[in-house]
Amino acid sequence: MRRPLVAGNWKLHGSRASNASLLGAIRAGLQSSWHLDVMVCPPFVYLAETAAALQGSPVILGAQDASAEAQGAFTGEVSASMLRDVGCSHVLVGHSERRTLFGESDELVARKFRTVVAAGLSPVLCVGETLQQRQAGATEAVIRQQLDAVLAAVSDEDLARGIIAYEPVWAIGTGHTASPEQAQEVHAVIRRTVLARSARIAGELRILYGGSVKGANAQALFAMPDIDGGLVGGASLDAADFLKICSAAAGTTQ
Ligand code: 13P
Repeated sequence: MRRPLVAGNWKLHGSRASNASLLGAIRAGLQSSWHLDVMVCPPFVYLAETAAALQGSPVILGAQDASAEAQGAFTGEVSASMLRDVGCSHVLVGHSERRTLFGESDELVARKFRTVVAAGLSPVLCVGETLQQRQAGATEAVIRQQLDAVLAAVSDEDLARGIIAYEPVWAIGTGHTASPEQAQEVHAVIRRTVLARSARIAGELRILYGGSVKGANAQALFAMPDIDGGLVGGASLDAADFLKICSAAAGTTQ
């Protein structure tokens, strides 16, 4: 059984005061009987303070990105080992906003995946097609291409450290969630692609769905056999909705 994971990607949101109240409410609402992993991914500048606020709680810490470089003259970058140093266990790589707004290529994303693993952290590799690509019937080809770029660049051992998040670009921040069936279809493609490499890794691989996940639609999505949790944007900023999503992933109803 794969343990569900719900990760909140705060994107470019938050302040010291709002983070403290959000984290306090999440900590207070999580039930010890829920079997799942819960992660928050605040902006870089809040990571250390968030790590301190999460002391003694089961909530784990992720970063939204990392440099592909380990160290050196790269002004403005943050390395994976620095992220580990301040308490992160996971790092998102290849989020669609990084790919489309900041021009990250499949090759760069693959390098980031490797750098994150080399620092002892787990990468959460994001893949997803645009609306135009879906309408052109290219969804499977796009997902395979994004995945293959990483699969070709990493060892089995590295791959086993990763998590994959399927985030259709057309569903991110739009309120148009993929239907559970649409999401399941792509998750199955992802698992089959990894299966061709290793049955063991494919069986254990957690594949998250992201794109307008809310308390109201989470349960139907997580009921799908290849959906192992969610990568949540907007709803992760609302403690009550985020907790509802967590409880759905844990298989309880709230
Ligand atoms: P929304 O949940 O706001 O659609 O964002 C999804 C996402 O991009 C999470 O990484």
